[in-house]
Amino acid sequence: MTGPTIEAVNPETDIEALVSLNCREIAEWHHYTKDGTRGAPSTWKELSTWERWRHGGPWLDFNLLSLHLRILEEAGGTVLVARQKGEIIGELEVVYDMGSPERGRAHIVWMVVDPAWQRKGVGTLLVKHARELATNLGCQYVTVSSQDQDSYSFYKSLNFQKMNRLLFFSKELGNETASMRIDDVQMLPLEWKQRPRPPLGFKLVFGNNYTPSYTWAYLRHMGKLYELMDLDKPSPKLWLLRQKETEAVTVAHNFVRLWHSPQDASDFLATALRVTEKLSRRIGVSQLNAYSFPSHQRLLEAVGFTLQGEEAYLSIPL
Ligand SMILES: CC(C)(COP(=O)(O)OP(=O)(O)OC[C@H]1O[C@@H](n2cnc3c(N)ncnc32)[C@H](O)[C@@H]1OP(=O)(O)O)[C@@H](O)C(=O)NCCC(=O)NCCS
Repeated sequence: MTGPTIEAVNPETDIEALVSLNCREIAEWHHYTKDGTRGAPSTWKELSTWERWRHGGPWLDFNLLSLHLRILEEAGGTVLVARQKGEIIGELEVVYDMGSPERGRAHIVWMVVDPAWQRKGVGTLLVKHARELATNLGCQYVTVSSQDQDSYSFYKSLNFQKMNRLLFFSKELGNETASMRIDDVQMLPLEWKQRPRPPLGFKLVFGNNYTPSYTWAYLRHMGKLYELMDLDKPSPKLWLLRQKETEAVTVAHNFVRLWHSPQDASDFLATALRVTEKLSRRIGVSQLNAYSFPSHQRLLEAVGFTLQGEEAYLSIPL
């Protein structure tokens, strides 16, 4: 029997097969209550778009996946599929980080293999092709973050090494809106429409497990994602912060995403975090979250964030 072939996804014709593939990973479908807790058992068909998302992200609904693939395209990413006799049995999504200080990184956003095809080398084949693509694009290493033991064992089997701990923090914002005074920082609203890419030369801190261009593209389209899910949530608002020579671009949203200018911004980051909190409160955010590496743990804790959990951040040189 010949093995699967690996090729680029066709977004026009592959959406249904990709949703079907990703749905096979879900053991049980159920409703969600409004506060996000588990509700009555259900079928995939009966679920709302938001409930499908809650089971595992944009891969479980046609409209969400279609937008997700457009976002990946806008971010310059690649989606590979493994086909066996025409049927899609595996998928891998990768984005690249070429125009930033972390130049030369390819990051695997997501991959999945049909449960009936797992442990048969399909995942290994997908990663091999992704590595070849990344090498041809001039990348120097591939990264991925792993949330569970099985995927950790898989990446370890391919010689990925754990490089760091990816930490997840959160802070309850309560409603002490008025108390926060911030001096000396100019805050200028920016428009997503006029800014298809993150500012050149700026470095992404917080949320920097994903590449800057992918993070940016996702935030730009978040409002559309909320619309598809019929969610009355504030879409991310973009702001330029300026303090003397130093600039940062931040987002009022429930996750901290902060880009700072090439100047040394270490003293500025705590202030920029506090401003981000203030701007997020203003649009009604009640819990602020942040992904970060341990190098920024102290800073986040100093402004009131609490560590909630961690993932392994792995890397392999090319
Ligand atoms: C992780 C995943 C993509 C691996 O795909 P796969 O096609 O089964 O992987 P391979 O057959 O190429 O496995 C290669 C090696 O990885 C290791 N490995 C793979 N799955 C493993 C598991 N569940 N537990 C322990 N080791 C595992 C083994 O060493 C395996 O070699 P072996 O089968 O000879 O022992 C697949 O299990 C999957 O889709 N999981 C659910 C989604 C997921 O976790 N995605 C990753 C998040 S980015």
